[in-house]
Amino acid sequence: MTETGSTTGTGAPAPSDRNSLTVGPDGPMLLHDHHFVEQMAHFNRERIPERNVHAKGSGAFGTFEVTGDITHLTRAAVFRPGTRTEVLARFSTVAGELGSPDTWRDPRGFSLKFYTSEGNWDLVGNNTPVFFIRDSMKFPHFIRSQKRRGASGLRDNDMQWDFWTLNPESAHQVTWLMGDRGIPASWRTMNGYGSHTYMLEDGAGGKSWVKFHFISDQGVKSLTQEDANRIAGEDSDFHRRDLFEAIDRGDHPSWTLKVQVMPYEDARTYRLNPFDLTKVWPHADYPLQEVGRLTLDRNPDNHFAQIEQAAFEPSAIVPGIGFSPDKMLLGRVFAYADTHRHRIGANYQQLPVNRHRVEGAYTYQFDGPMAYDHAGDRSKYAPNSYGDPYSDATGPAPDGWEADGAMVRDAYTLREDDDDFGQAGILVREVFDDAARERFVGNVAGHLLGGVSEPILVKAFAYWSSVDAEIGKRIEEAVRAEQANDVAPHPTEPVTTV
Ligand code: HEM
Repeated sequence: MTETGSTTGTGAPAPSDRNSLTVGPDGPMLLHDHHFVEQMAHFNRERIPERNVHAKGSGAFGTFEVTGDITHLTRAAVFRPGTRTEVLARFSTVAGELGSPDTWRDPRGFSLKFYTSEGNWDLVGNNTPVFFIRDSMKFPHFIRSQKRRGASGLRDNDMQWDFWTLNPESAHQVTWLMGDRGIPASWRTMNGYGSHTYMLEDGAGGKSWVKFHFISDQGVKSLTQEDANRIAGEDSDFHRRDLFEAIDRGDHPSWTLKVQVMPYEDARTYRLNPFDLTKVWPHADYPLQEVGRLTLDRNPDNHFAQIEQAAFEPSAIVPGIGFSPDKMLLGRVFAYADTHRHRIGANYQQLPVNRHRVEGAYTYQFDGPMAYDHAGDRSKYAPNSYGDPYSDATGPAPDGWEADGAMVRDAYTLREDDDDFGQAGILVREVFDDAARERFVGNVAGHLLGGVSEPILVKAFAYWSSVDAEIGKRIEEAVRAEQANDVAPHPTEPVTTV
């Protein structure tokens, strides 16, 4: 051992990081070599389960600064002009595992944790403004259809299209996914969306509905399917590397936060259900207003401690921001904290990366595995006669909304313009140009040709014809032409050398 030698977990000098303790140089190892046992035992436990979804990702720290005043809409301190708030951002793919390539076609997660003076506000969104489904009950089924098969352990386009075609509300998100934005060139060059409708409340009874949009100041850039396939083979950490290296060289990415605000009462009568996550609010009806800027300028010091153990949860909101009747959001408000207790442990909120920055906070959470924060001998119950904190709000919740009726298991009540295919069709016809439509047809046909079986293929053609008759025809023709060219598809033969 030297003066600069390592230590054991209890802080004593470690005897050797090179040789285990044996009976003579060639003899058996000894169980009382506790340093060896500690090294092995800890190594055997040094992984935590990967996230069930969004397992592959990375992130960075930065700052959110307010540039536009919405204090007439919300009392949230994070939106007070002049306020600067520390933020952690994490970007991810959805379906792939911890080591999967960054450039697979998939939505990207866009998670933000704002360490505000009133508690953490987590906005756990995607790079898309919509989602595949509109009821949380379907989420586990949806995700399993995107993951691996029971027997082969392979991902399977047949399962994916079976789910999508049986759940036509997916059409808008699948159109988006198969379009150019389905594979971002980098995390820096994609937008982020809160996606759900949230509430803003001013503390004096005033409420409105809001959607959050983080628009990339780097511009939106995407990869073609061909480039993405090539990069997946060359550098599966392409996006992780890009972000880390950009921040390292001082090229700090930023996003402008814009909001769409809907007056509270509009939600009752608007022509689309404003809480349906498969729909956007047309900008013509609810224009974007600038609110702030997010800049990422600090890489993690340690990926595991600050990114792998980061726990984002849509349940983390602050006074002035509330939920909405979106059935996806309400399901998520339960799911994330629950998965963190399983993945990280009951006291995950005490880890430095997850810990709020509120001075003098007092919570009635006690003990449990790895408890670090504690309240000494202060009251463990409330109310108490010793002046320890007690919350006792009564009456209408400031961020609540009216609900009355029998308990049912029904889809949302349809509004005038609510349908599964309308906004998907607008995307294809009015947002894509000819070249984008051409790539879109190629992307969908290529995906369908990747193992989708005949009955589901036919359903997929009908799905796309419902989105747009012309695009459906082109996709069907592209698939049939390719099948006719290659009647007996065969796997690529490995090259054998002697
Ligand atoms: C009911 C629907 C949903 C459920 C039950 C659900 C559940 C989950 C779970 C269990 C995780 C893993 C969390 C972890 O281990 O840290 C996760 C991660 C994530 N989800 Fe969802 N999810 C849902 C819908 C959505 C939607 C609609 C979005 C985007 C608008 C979204 C965005 C994300 C993101 C970005 C992450 C990664 C968080 C991180 O960076 O650590 N999810 N989700």
